[in-house]
Parts: sequence; C-alpha cells; structure tokens
Amino acid sequence: MNRSPARSFPRVRLRRNRADDWSRRLVAEFRLGVDDLIWPVFVVEGEGQRLPVASMPGVERFSVDLLVEAAAEARGLGIPAVALFPVVPRERKTAEAAEACDPDNLVCRAVRALKREVPGIGVICDVALDPYTSHGHDGLLREGHVVNDESVAVLVRQGLTLAAAGADVLAPSDMMDGRIGAIRDGLDDAGHQGVRICAYAAKYASAFYGPFRDALDTGGLLKGDKRTYQMDPANAAEALAEVALDLEEGADSVIVKPGLPYLDIIRRVKDGFGVPTFAYHVSGEYAMLKAAVANGWLDNDRVLLETMLSFKRAGADAVLTYAAVEVARLLHR
Ligand code: PBG
Repeated sequence: MNRSPARSFPRVRLRRNRADDWSRRLVAEFRLGVDDLIWPVFVVEGEGQRLPVASMPGVERFSVDLLVEAAAEARGLGIPAVALFPVVPRERKTAEAAEACDPDNLVCRAVRALKREVPGIGVICDVALDPYTSHGHDGLLREGHVVNDESVAVLVRQGLTLAAAGADVLAPSDMMDGRIGAIRDGLDDAGHQGVRICAYAAKYASAFYGPFRDALDTGGLLKGDKRTYQMDPANAAEALAEVALDLEEGADSVIVKPGLPYLDIIRRVKDGFGVPTFAYHVSGEYAMLKAAVANGWLDNDRVLLETMLSFKRAGADAVLTYAAVEVARLLHR
C-alpha cells in the first residue's frame, strides 16, 4: 500500500468520488455477479412436492421432478451450480448409513435427472453420512466415538457412488482426517479423474447449522455434538492447516463455513493459498436475516446484496447461499 503522506485535507476530499452514482460505479473495487453464486437445494422423495422449511422462510424442499424445474430456472438466471442435500426418510437411516452408497438413493436419482434434463449447470454433492445415519453424525460411531479411518472408507464409497451417478463436484463436509486424499485416489482409480473435489476445508462446529438440521430432520437425532471433528470456533491458524492438507491431498477448491462470522478466515485462506475459495452463508445466517426482515427490521434486498458483497470483499470467489435465486433475480434488475 502506498499511502502518500502528501494526500491530505482540504485538497483531498474522498467524498468527491462518492458524489454521483456514475462515479461510485466507476471506482467500485468489488462486484457481485450471478457467476459468484452456488445454490444449495434440499431434495425430498415423491412427486410434485415442495415443502417449506419453517426456520428458513422462502426455502422449499423439492421432489426430483420439481428440482429439475427449479434448477432449470437457476440455470436461466445464470447461476453456475447447485449443491444437493437429500432429506432421507427416517426408516432408511441406519447406524452404518448403508443408504449413502446405494446407487438408487434419492440424491443419485436427483443427480441423474439434473444431468439429463438440465445440462450445463454444475452439480455439487455433499459427502458426509449425516443424512443417512440414525445417530445424525457425519461418520460412524463406535462406542460413542466418531471413528475416523473406518468412516473415511465409507465416505470413499459414497463419493464413488455419487461420481457414478454423474456428480460434477464432490464436496466432503464431514471433517474426517485424510478423506480428501482417500476420495481423490478412489476417484482416480475408478477412472473419474475429471470429477472435482471442493473440500469443506475449514468447517467449524457451529451453532448456525440449526435450521439446516431442521430441513434434513437430523437435529433431533443427533447424539451429542460434532466438536470432535468439526473445528473449534476459537481457532484460526488451524483453518490454514486444514486447507493446506486438503490442497495437498488434491482438493480443487475449498469452502469456509459458516460465512459471515468467519470472514477473517476467508481472507486468510485466500491470501495464504490463492486457490478458489468459497464462503458458505449457512442456514442460521439466512434464518437471522429473514427473521429480521419478517419483523420489518431490515431491508431484505439491500441487506442480502450487502452480505454477498462482504464475502467478495473478504476474498471469496463464490458464495453458497439459500438466497442464490433471489440474489440472481436482484442482480438482473
Ligand atoms: C453436514 C452438513 C451440514 C451443513 C452442510 N453439510 C450440517 C452439519 O454439519 O451439521 C450445514 C449447512 C447449513 O447450515 O446451511 N455434513
């Protein structure tokens, strides 16, 4: 930064550049575009289903037929990719999460439908066992402990199942050690060199995931918490260590999650590694905004756009947000 000492008031008046809309646009340092948006979508069984999520006003869980329509609309708005999250019926959840590796499970059917009917939109799939486990954890439980290596073996099989269904990007959100390398090797051995890995590298054990667990109906099932695998909010340097490892293991891009409370982490990751870095504006952040809007306390459109821009300013290349479609519409106005 060259801050010349000669620049001082009254010759220098920074308000001059702010005086008109045209000059504000001209000097804007960061811009938000539809290319910066990833839309996370919940998928349910059945047909013609569109189920609201009470704690996430405006969010609907779609059956595959309606997901296809929604994704086509998102593609039409210029949104590059969707991230799928299946709502697995309780009777299919087991301690060992077998459903996660069934090639005909809900998310695999959704991927195949999207690839067939909505070509050109990227399909990102979460790799983690929590939608499928009866205990709500992202890995396998042995004597009350979420075990690492055994979980990784299942995550590799889940990843291969998703890749075979046609997923473009696998996004491991489980936070087991070594899973990126294991999944990369598994993909390469199976001839899926082109399938990308977007690692939830710095994922914190956050209280902001509450509404997501409502949407997936996993919250009530969860035994204990996820603090033995997700990161401690007290740590920052550790996030850089997580990112370094995931990149070494073959990640193509990384996610910092949650978003707004962790803008410092996004900045440090982007500056430290220079790799594609995505922010996850998570369910609780979305819920807070919408709750304030519902009370008439905040202006929805302006706060949404300001929030998205803050991610760009922090260094994010794209943002996963439940408001992606809404934001894209605003940007097209
Ligand atoms: C599960 C997963 C979670 C989210 C994305 N993938 C929840 C969790 O870790 O408990 C949260 C997303 C959100 O809150 O919007 N592995």
